[in-house]
Amino acid sequence: PNNSTIFSLIQPTGKIHIGNYLGAINSWKELSEVESEGTKYLFGTADLHAITQTIDAKILKQYRMEAIASLISSGLNPEKCILFHQSAVPEHSELNWYLTCITSMGMLNRMTQWKSKAHQDQTSSIFEEKVLEQTKAGLLCYPVLQAADILIYKSTHVPVGDDQSQHLELTRNLAQSFNHIYKTKFFPMPKTLLTPAKKILSLRNPLKKMSKSDVDQSSCIYVTESSEEISKKIRKATTDSIQGKIYYDPVGRPGVSNLINIISGLTKKSIDETVVDLQWINDHKQLKDHVTELIVEEFKEKRHMYDQLLNDVAYLDKICQQGRDKAREIASDNIKQIRGIIGL
Ligand code: ADP
Ligand code: NA
Repeated sequence: PNNSTIFSLIQPTGKIHIGNYLGAINSWKELSEVESEGTKYLFGTADLHAITQTIDAKILKQYRMEAIASLISSGLNPEKCILFHQSAVPEHSELNWYLTCITSMGMLNRMTQWKSKAHQDQTSSIFEEKVLEQTKAGLLCYPVLQAADILIYKSTHVPVGDDQSQHLELTRNLAQSFNHIYKTKFFPMPKTLLTPAKKILSLRNPLKKMSKSDVDQSSCIYVTESSEEISKKIRKATTDSIQGKIYYDPVGRPGVSNLINIISGLTKKSIDETVVDLQWINDHKQLKDHVTELIVEEFKEKRHMYDQLLNDVAYLDKICQQGRDKAREIASDNIKQIRGIIGL
Protein backbone atom coordinates (compact mmCIF):
# COMPACT_ATOMS: atom_id res chain seq x y z
CA PRO A 1 0.00 0.00 0.00
CA ASN A 2 0.99 3.66 -0.50
CA ASN A 3 2.71 5.65 2.25
CA SER A 4 3.59 2.55 4.26
CA THR A 5 6.78 1.93 6.16
CA ILE A 6 7.97 -1.63 5.71
CA PHE A 7 10.66 -2.74 8.14
CA SER A 8 12.53 -5.90 9.07
CA LEU A 9 15.96 -6.95 10.35
CA ILE A 10 18.07 -10.06 10.23
CA GLN A 11 20.56 -11.10 12.90
CA PRO A 12 24.21 -11.14 11.85
CA THR A 13 24.92 -14.22 13.93
CA GLY A 14 25.87 -16.60 11.18
CA LYS A 15 25.73 -17.24 7.49
CA ILE A 16 22.40 -16.56 5.79
CA HIS A 17 20.57 -19.83 5.08
CA ILE A 18 17.79 -20.87 2.79
CA GLY A 19 15.26 -20.49 5.66
CA ASN A 20 16.20 -16.82 6.01
CA TYR A 21 16.05 -16.47 2.24
CA LEU A 22 12.63 -18.07 1.72
CA GLY A 23 11.15 -16.92 5.04
CA ALA A 24 12.41 -13.35 4.93
CA ILE A 25 14.76 -11.83 2.36
CA ASN A 26 13.04 -13.08 -0.77
CA SER A 27 9.70 -11.75 0.40
CA TRP A 28 11.31 -8.42 1.37
CA LYS A 29 12.55 -8.20 -2.18
CA GLU A 30 9.10 -8.89 -3.60
CA LEU A 31 7.49 -6.31 -1.34
CA SER A 32 10.04 -3.71 -2.37
CA GLU A 33 9.19 -4.33 -6.01
CA VAL A 34 5.49 -3.52 -5.61
CA GLU A 35 4.67 -0.16 -7.16
CA SER A 36 3.55 2.13 -4.36
CA GLU A 37 3.87 5.81 -3.71
CA GLY A 38 5.57 7.24 -0.66
CA THR A 39 6.37 3.82 0.79
CA LYS A 40 9.63 3.41 2.68
CA TYR A 41 11.56 0.16 2.88
CA LEU A 42 14.01 -0.38 5.73
CA PHE A 43 16.01 -3.60 6.00
CA GLY A 44 19.18 -4.30 7.89
CA THR A 45 21.17 -6.26 10.40
CA ALA A 46 20.07 -6.62 14.01
CA ASP A 47 23.59 -6.30 15.33
CA LEU A 48 22.48 -5.10 18.76
CA HIS A 49 20.44 -8.28 19.04
CA ALA A 50 23.40 -10.37 17.94
CA ILE A 51 25.30 -9.48 21.11
CA THR A 52 22.65 -10.90 23.45
CA GLN A 53 24.75 -14.03 23.12
CA THR A 54 28.54 -13.89 23.23
CA ILE A 55 30.05 -13.42 19.80
CA ASP A 56 33.65 -12.71 18.79
CA ALA A 57 34.16 -9.12 17.58
CA LYS A 58 35.90 -10.06 14.33
CA ILE A 59 33.28 -12.64 13.50
CA LEU A 60 30.46 -10.20 14.20
CA LYS A 61 32.02 -7.67 11.84
CA GLN A 62 32.28 -10.33 9.16
CA TYR A 63 28.69 -11.55 9.61
CA ARG A 64 27.37 -7.98 9.47
CA MET A 65 29.07 -7.47 6.16
CA GLU A 66 27.96 -10.84 4.82
CA ALA A 67 24.37 -10.09 5.77
CA ILE A 68 24.37 -6.81 3.81
CA ALA A 69 26.01 -8.57 0.85
CA SER A 70 23.31 -11.26 1.04
CA LEU A 71 20.52 -8.68 1.04
CA ILE A 72 21.91 -6.96 -2.05
CA SER A 73 22.77 -10.15 -3.92
CA SER A 74 19.31 -11.54 -3.15
CA GLY A 75 17.88 -8.63 -5.09
CA LEU A 76 17.22 -5.79 -2.65
CA ASN A 77 17.99 -2.58 -4.51
CA PRO A 78 20.01 -0.17 -2.33
CA GLU A 79 18.59 2.75 -4.32
CA LYS A 80 15.10 1.81 -3.28
CA CYS A 81 15.65 0.20 0.12
CA ILE A 82 17.34 1.71 3.14
CA LEU A 83 19.96 -0.90 4.06
CA PHE A 84 21.71 -0.34 7.37
CA HIS A 85 23.06 -1.68 10.65
CA GLN A 86 20.77 -1.23 13.65
CA SER A 87 23.65 -0.10 15.89
CA ALA A 88 24.43 2.80 13.55
CA VAL A 89 21.13 4.44 14.51
CA PRO A 90 21.35 5.22 18.26
CA GLU A 91 17.67 6.22 18.38
CA HIS A 92 16.79 2.50 18.53
CA SER A 93 18.53 2.26 21.90
CA GLU A 94 16.96 5.43 23.21
CA LEU A 95 13.42 4.33 22.38
CA ASN A 96 14.30 0.92 23.80
CA TRP A 97 14.73 2.56 27.23
CA TYR A 98 11.44 4.46 27.03
CA LEU A 99 9.64 1.23 26.14
CA THR A 100 11.51 -0.76 28.81
CA CYS A 101 10.00 1.62 31.36
CA ILE A 102 6.48 0.59 30.35
CA THR A 103 7.15 -3.16 29.98
CA SER A 104 6.15 -5.52 32.77
CA MET A 105 8.30 -8.48 33.74
CA GLY A 106 5.22 -10.63 33.26
CA MET A 107 5.00 -9.67 29.60
CA LEU A 108 8.64 -10.60 29.06
CA ASN A 109 8.28 -13.82 30.97
CA ARG A 110 5.50 -14.92 28.63
CA MET A 111 7.79 -14.65 25.59
CA THR A 112 8.95 -18.14 24.73
CA GLN A 113 11.96 -17.59 22.47
CA TRP A 114 14.42 -16.40 25.13
CA LYS A 115 13.67 -19.51 27.11
CA SER A 116 14.75 -21.82 24.36
CA LYS A 117 17.89 -19.73 23.78
CA ALA A 118 18.67 -19.64 27.49
CA HIS A 119 18.27 -23.39 27.68
CA GLN A 120 20.55 -23.85 24.68
CA ASP A 121 23.36 -22.27 26.68
CA GLN A 122 22.77 -24.53 29.68
CA THR A 123 22.92 -28.21 30.32
CA SER A 124 19.37 -29.49 30.21
CA SER A 125 19.53 -30.80 33.77
CA ILE A 126 19.51 -27.30 35.25
CA PHE A 127 16.25 -26.32 36.93
CA GLU A 128 14.00 -23.60 35.52
CA GLU A 129 14.79 -21.01 38.24
CA LYS A 130 18.49 -21.68 37.89
CA VAL A 131 18.18 -20.89 34.17
CA LEU A 132 16.44 -17.60 34.95
CA GLU A 133 19.13 -16.85 37.54
CA GLN A 134 21.82 -17.08 34.88
CA THR A 135 19.94 -15.61 31.92
CA LYS A 136 21.28 -12.27 30.76
CA ALA A 137 18.80 -9.41 30.99
CA GLY A 138 19.53 -8.54 27.35
CA LEU A 139 18.14 -11.86 26.20
CA LEU A 140 15.01 -11.39 28.28
CA CYS A 141 14.54 -7.79 27.08
CA TYR A 142 15.25 -8.60 23.45
CA PRO A 143 11.60 -8.26 22.37
CA VAL A 144 11.48 -4.71 23.79
CA LEU A 145 14.43 -3.67 21.65
CA GLN A 146 12.69 -5.34 18.74
CA ALA A 147 9.62 -3.21 19.45
CA ALA A 148 11.82 -0.11 19.53
CA ASP A 149 13.39 -1.11 16.19
CA ILE A 150 9.97 -1.28 14.58
CA LEU A 151 8.36 1.71 16.28
CA ILE A 152 11.22 4.21 15.91
CA TYR A 153 10.29 4.38 12.21
CA LYS A 154 6.54 4.24 12.93
CA SER A 155 6.58 1.10 10.78
CA THR A 156 3.25 -0.04 9.41
CA HIS A 157 4.23 -3.50 8.10
CA VAL A 158 6.78 -6.02 9.36
CA PRO A 159 7.45 -9.01 7.08
CA VAL A 160 8.77 -11.95 9.17
CA GLY A 161 8.54 -15.71 9.49
CA ASP A 162 6.06 -17.14 11.97
CA ASP A 163 8.72 -17.64 14.67
CA GLN A 164 8.49 -13.89 15.20
CA SER A 165 4.70 -13.45 15.54
CA GLN A 166 4.73 -13.53 19.34
CA HIS A 167 7.27 -10.71 19.50
CA LEU A 168 5.21 -8.58 17.14
CA GLU A 169 2.24 -9.07 19.42
CA LEU A 170 4.35 -7.54 22.20
CA THR A 171 5.33 -4.68 19.88
CA ARG A 172 1.66 -3.87 19.32
CA ASN A 173 0.97 -4.11 23.07
CA LEU A 174 3.78 -1.67 23.79
CA ALA A 175 2.67 0.73 21.06
CA GLN A 176 -0.81 0.65 22.54
CA SER A 177 0.44 1.11 26.12
CA PHE A 178 2.60 4.04 25.10
CA ASN A 179 -0.27 5.70 23.26
CA HIS A 180 -2.55 5.08 26.23
CA ILE A 181 -0.15 6.21 28.98
CA TYR A 182 0.86 9.37 27.16
CA LYS A 183 -2.59 10.06 25.69
CA THR A 184 -1.29 10.19 22.15
CA LYS A 185 -1.85 8.53 18.80
CA PHE A 186 1.82 8.70 17.91
CA PHE A 187 2.53 5.05 17.16
CA PRO A 188 0.58 3.22 14.44
CA MET A 189 -0.14 -0.47 15.12
CA PRO A 190 2.34 -2.35 12.93
CA LYS A 191 0.91 -5.28 10.99
CA THR A 192 2.68 -8.62 10.80
CA LEU A 193 3.19 -9.74 7.20
CA LEU A 194 3.68 -13.47 7.51
CA THR A 195 5.74 -14.77 4.63
CA PRO A 196 3.87 -17.32 2.55
CA ALA A 197 6.75 -19.83 2.61
CA LYS A 198 6.54 -22.56 5.23
CA LYS A 199 9.09 -22.63 8.02
CA ILE A 200 12.21 -24.41 6.77
CA LEU A 201 13.51 -27.12 9.08
CA SER A 202 16.96 -28.40 9.92
CA LEU A 203 18.13 -30.90 7.29
CA ARG A 204 19.57 -33.32 9.81
CA ASN A 205 16.89 -32.91 12.46
CA PRO A 206 13.64 -31.88 10.75
CA LEU A 207 11.94 -31.47 14.13
CA LYS A 208 13.86 -28.21 14.69
CA LYS A 209 13.85 -25.09 12.52
CA MET A 210 16.87 -24.36 10.36
CA SER A 211 18.81 -21.69 12.24
CA LYS A 212 22.01 -19.69 11.92
CA SER A 213 22.83 -20.59 15.48
CA ASP A 214 22.81 -24.33 14.70
CA VAL A 215 26.33 -25.60 15.35
CA ASP A 216 25.78 -28.49 12.93
CA GLN A 217 26.53 -26.79 9.62
CA SER A 218 25.32 -29.78 7.64
CA SER A 219 21.81 -28.88 8.82
CA CYS A 220 21.74 -25.61 6.89
CA ILE A 221 21.99 -24.72 3.22
CA TYR A 222 23.73 -21.36 3.03
CA VAL A 223 22.85 -19.07 0.15
CA THR A 224 26.54 -18.74 -0.71
CA GLU A 225 27.42 -22.39 -0.89
CA SER A 226 28.95 -24.22 -3.86
CA SER A 227 26.73 -26.59 -5.85
CA GLU A 228 28.86 -29.55 -4.67
CA GLU A 229 28.31 -28.57 -1.05
CA ILE A 230 24.55 -28.09 -1.59
CA SER A 231 24.27 -31.43 -3.31
CA LYS A 232 26.21 -33.19 -0.54
CA LYS A 233 24.05 -31.70 2.22
CA ILE A 234 20.76 -32.50 0.49
CA ARG A 235 21.94 -36.06 -0.13
CA LYS A 236 22.60 -36.46 3.60
CA ALA A 237 19.33 -34.81 4.65
CA THR A 238 17.30 -36.98 7.03
CA THR A 239 14.20 -38.41 5.38
CA ASP A 240 12.49 -41.73 6.16
CA SER A 241 12.33 -45.30 4.99
CA ILE A 242 8.86 -45.14 3.44
CA GLN A 243 9.18 -46.59 -0.08
CA GLY A 244 7.48 -45.43 -3.23
CA LYS A 245 5.72 -42.20 -4.07
CA ILE A 246 6.44 -39.20 -1.95
CA TYR A 247 3.60 -37.33 -0.27
CA TYR A 248 3.23 -34.38 2.06
CA ASP A 249 2.85 -35.21 5.75
CA PRO A 250 4.69 -32.78 8.07
CA VAL A 251 4.02 -34.96 11.13
CA GLY A 252 4.63 -38.42 9.73
CA ARG A 253 7.28 -37.45 7.17
CA PRO A 254 8.95 -34.26 8.43
CA GLY A 255 12.13 -34.67 6.36
CA VAL A 256 10.38 -35.30 3.05
CA SER A 257 7.83 -32.57 3.78
CA ASN A 258 10.64 -30.13 4.53
CA LEU A 259 12.11 -30.79 1.07
CA ILE A 260 8.66 -30.21 -0.43
CA ASN A 261 8.46 -26.94 1.54
CA ILE A 262 11.76 -25.85 0.03
CA ILE A 263 10.51 -26.65 -3.48
CA SER A 264 7.24 -24.84 -2.87
CA GLY A 265 9.14 -21.82 -1.50
CA LEU A 266 11.47 -21.70 -4.49
CA THR A 267 8.80 -22.21 -7.14
CA LYS A 268 6.26 -20.03 -5.26
CA LYS A 269 3.59 -22.64 -5.74
CA SER A 270 1.28 -23.92 -3.03
CA ILE A 271 2.05 -27.23 -1.33
CA ASP A 272 -0.88 -28.90 -3.15
CA GLU A 273 0.31 -27.73 -6.55
CA THR A 274 3.86 -28.73 -5.70
CA VAL A 275 2.83 -32.25 -4.74
CA VAL A 276 0.94 -32.63 -8.02
CA ASP A 277 4.02 -31.40 -9.89
CA LEU A 278 6.13 -34.02 -8.11
CA GLN A 279 4.07 -37.02 -9.24
CA TRP A 280 6.87 -38.12 -11.59
CA ILE A 281 9.15 -38.72 -8.62
CA ASN A 282 9.47 -42.34 -7.53
CA ASP A 283 11.97 -42.29 -4.68
CA HIS A 284 13.92 -40.17 -2.24
CA LYS A 285 16.94 -39.93 -4.49
CA GLN A 286 14.95 -38.38 -7.33
CA LEU A 287 13.37 -35.95 -4.89
CA LYS A 288 16.76 -34.95 -3.48
CA ASP A 289 18.29 -34.52 -6.94
CA HIS A 290 15.38 -32.31 -7.92
CA VAL A 291 15.64 -30.13 -4.80
CA THR A 292 19.38 -29.79 -5.30
CA GLU A 293 18.92 -28.70 -8.89
CA LEU A 294 16.36 -26.04 -7.95
CA ILE A 295 18.49 -24.62 -5.12
CA VAL A 296 21.66 -24.55 -7.21
CA GLU A 297 19.79 -22.77 -9.99
CA GLU A 298 18.23 -20.22 -7.61
CA PHE A 299 21.53 -19.25 -5.99
CA LYS A 300 23.94 -19.53 -8.93
CA GLU A 301 24.03 -15.89 -9.99
CA LYS A 302 23.35 -14.56 -6.52
CA ARG A 303 26.39 -16.36 -5.25
CA HIS A 304 28.54 -14.83 -7.96
CA MET A 305 27.33 -11.34 -7.09
CA TYR A 306 27.78 -12.04 -3.39
CA ASP A 307 31.44 -12.97 -3.93
CA GLN A 308 32.02 -9.76 -5.87
CA LEU A 309 30.34 -7.65 -3.20
CA LEU A 310 32.41 -9.17 -0.42
CA ASN A 311 35.52 -8.25 -2.38
CA ASP A 312 34.41 -4.63 -2.38
CA VAL A 313 34.11 -3.71 1.28
CA ALA A 314 34.34 0.00 0.46
CA TYR A 315 31.15 -0.27 -1.59
CA LEU A 316 29.32 -2.18 1.15
CA ASP A 317 30.42 0.43 3.70
CA LYS A 318 29.16 3.20 1.45
CA ILE A 319 25.75 1.55 1.11
CA CYS A 320 25.50 1.15 4.89
CA GLN A 321 26.48 4.78 5.50
CA GLN A 322 23.88 5.99 3.02
CA GLY A 323 21.35 3.71 4.69
CA ARG A 324 22.28 4.96 8.14
CA ASP A 325 21.88 8.59 7.08
CA LYS A 326 18.44 7.98 5.60
CA ALA A 327 17.33 5.89 8.57
CA ARG A 328 18.59 8.47 11.06
CA GLU A 329 16.72 11.22 9.30
CA ILE A 330 13.45 9.44 10.08
CA ALA A 331 14.51 8.19 13.52
CA SER A 332 15.86 11.48 14.85
CA ASP A 333 12.74 13.34 13.82
CA ASN A 334 10.57 10.74 15.56
CA ILE A 335 12.67 10.59 18.74
CA LYS A 336 12.41 14.38 19.14
CA GLN A 337 8.64 14.08 19.06
CA ILE A 338 8.71 11.10 21.44
CA ARG A 339 10.82 13.04 23.98
CA GLY A 340 8.31 15.86 23.75
CA ILE A 341 5.41 13.49 24.40
CA ILE A 342 7.19 12.00 27.44
CA GLY A 343 8.19 15.43 28.77
CA LEU A 344 11.92 15.20 28.25
P1 ADP B 1 17.98 -17.24 12.65
O1 ADP B 1 17.01 -17.92 13.55
O2 ADP B 1 18.43 -18.12 11.53
O3 ADP B 1 19.12 -16.59 13.39
P2 ADP B 1 16.83 -14.58 12.40
O4 ADP B 1 16.35 -14.62 13.80
O5 ADP B 1 17.94 -13.64 12.07
O6 ADP B 1 17.21 -16.07 11.92
O7 ADP B 1 15.60 -14.29 11.46
C1 ADP B 1 15.65 -13.52 10.29
C2 ADP B 1 14.37 -13.74 9.53
O8 ADP B 1 14.38 -15.06 8.95
C3 ADP B 1 13.11 -13.66 10.39
O9 ADP B 1 12.12 -12.96 9.66
C4 ADP B 1 12.71 -15.09 10.60
O10 ADP B 1 11.31 -15.23 10.74
C5 ADP B 1 13.20 -15.77 9.31
N1 ADP B 1 13.60 -17.17 9.55
C6 ADP B 1 14.59 -17.59 10.36
N2 ADP B 1 14.71 -18.92 10.33
C7 ADP B 1 13.77 -19.38 9.45
C8 ADP B 1 13.39 -20.69 8.96
N3 ADP B 1 14.02 -21.78 9.37
N4 ADP B 1 12.38 -20.78 8.07
C9 ADP B 1 11.74 -19.66 7.64
N5 ADP B 1 12.05 -18.41 8.05
C10 ADP B 1 13.04 -18.25 8.94
NA1 NA C 1 15.46 -16.25 15.09
